[in-house]
Amino acid sequence: MPEPPPTDNRVQAARRRTFAIISHPDAGKTTLTEKFLLYAGAVAEAGAVKARAGRRKATSDWMALEQQRGISITSTVLQFGYRDHVVNLLDTPGHRDFSEDTYRVLAAADAAIMVLDVAKGIEPQTRKLFEVCRARQLPILTYLNKFDRPGREPLELVDELEDQIDLQATPVTWPVGIPGDFRGVIDRRSGAFVRYNRTARGTTTAPEELVDSARAETEEGPAWVRAMEECALLDEVGAGVDTKTFLAGETSPLFVGSALTNFGVRHLLDAVVDLAPPPGPRTDSHGAARGLDESFSGFVFKVQANMDPAHRDRVAFVRVCSGRFERGMTVTHEPSGRPFATKYATSVFGAERDTIDEAWPGDVIGLVNAADLRVGDTLFAASPVRYPPIPRFSPELFVTARVRDSSRSKQFRRGVDQLEQEGVVQVLRDEHAGDPAPILAGVGQMQFEVFAHRLEHEFGAGVELTSTPYRLARSTDPATGEQLRRTTGVRVLTRADGVLLALFESPNWLARLEVDHPDWTLERLIAE
Ligand code: G4P
Repeated sequence: MPEPPPTDNRVQAARRRTFAIISHPDAGKTTLTEKFLLYAGAVAEAGAVKARAGRRKATSDWMALEQQRGISITSTVLQFGYRDHVVNLLDTPGHRDFSEDTYRVLAAADAAIMVLDVAKGIEPQTRKLFEVCRARQLPILTYLNKFDRPGREPLELVDELEDQIDLQATPVTWPVGIPGDFRGVIDRRSGAFVRYNRTARGTTTAPEELVDSARAETEEGPAWVRAMEECALLDEVGAGVDTKTFLAGETSPLFVGSALTNFGVRHLLDAVVDLAPPPGPRTDSHGAARGLDESFSGFVFKVQANMDPAHRDRVAFVRVCSGRFERGMTVTHEPSGRPFATKYATSVFGAERDTIDEAWPGDVIGLVNAADLRVGDTLFAASPVRYPPIPRFSPELFVTARVRDSSRSKQFRRGVDQLEQEGVVQVLRDEHAGDPAPILAGVGQMQFEVFAHRLEHEFGAGVELTSTPYRLARSTDPATGEQLRRTTGVRVLTRADGVLLALFESPNWLARLEVDHPDWTLERLIAE
């Protein structure tokens, strides 16, 4: 039988690439993002992203905190066209304190690019973010950045990837010359040598000079010979791109270059189109695949309030999984069964918004004033579906939050609820003691700083945070919860999503309880 003709849904999905960039701060994520936009023709000159970011920072109290700390807290989505494809680049916060936020963003991505500074290799936050990708089994492309200045041996970095994070690099491009004396790259697939040309701070695309091997050998001398030897070595160990293991997140096509001077950027962007997977059928909470051709469905991976203080609104970011989204269509909010109008659907480019009229699998839509939408919620049109919830991280830090001025209790409650729904922190309460002072749980201290700052500036409720003796948590069930309530050194609290958590002061005490009571339910949470 002949193949059925591809539907619009499948054609559109096949054109999409939805991915995120992960890196340790300063490795070059912002620069690379900017250069992608430059190469895609979405901006005429590099510098626009930072300029936009600057404008955005000037408009919000909360961004003021970002600026003070020099960190990126918010996640934004950039959509641009490249080679007849639609690329959705999801931005992730670089700081490990916000890795739970990154985890949620990566739930909406089909692939990731890991940027490493060639002078530094794997840094602590690269590792943490990589683990998040691995937990989601995301295919990863690796970019070794900053070849224009001195750094480490690339072969040593290939070994480091394997030894430290068990990721086998399969170099697609390989450097001629060393970091700091960079001559260009060989494309190992074709053998083509592209000579490195510096551009003045890379504001325009770099000229690409293709040089044949005879000329390269004469002109680059020992650097060329050495690159050839290293390529032969890579051939020997079979370090070629392997689609199956790449898609499983076990091997990673590797590219080298210098984002600042635009070198190697086009190779990498081409790889996003040629190697990274398009959106495919997504697994629902029963383990069944929702085909791309089925009616519209998507899930919320991020909620953010007060992005723009002039509007004080709330945006839910939805990743489209199947079907065509049309603005104005009425969809069903799966958890409540209620209809949800999509009149105020927007696309979000950095902090700027445009009305969006349609979207396809892989795209991200921003739904404005979506008061009832929480992270993890499914939306669908026509045939129902529910996507699995996005798992929460295992908290490692616990503090008690109290309102400073009790006449602001109402604002405090409202703010805590909102920030909990956004997933800024996890909020734990004692069900038995109508609790005015919830325990906040997180993986990084900065989450609490953001919480306190936003509660004060957006909700007008100053908050006092005090430390607690708790150091780790396990999820449990009501029966075990009853037993644990009678045990010293343990506190049992309910998280806002209904999960019962047992908090422990000491890992040894937990280990002891596990040995003494093998029948108790004490489950590990993810990412410990
Ligand atoms: P991030 O988003 O991962 O935190 O990193 P970002 O792109 O902001 O880059 C961090 C610093 O590294 C910036 O320098 C940037 O210019 C520089 N950089 C990025 N890619 C390259 C590269 O390929 N080669 C070299 N030599 N430098 C690179 P900065 O001085 O902090 O900022 P700026 O004054 O240049 O804006």
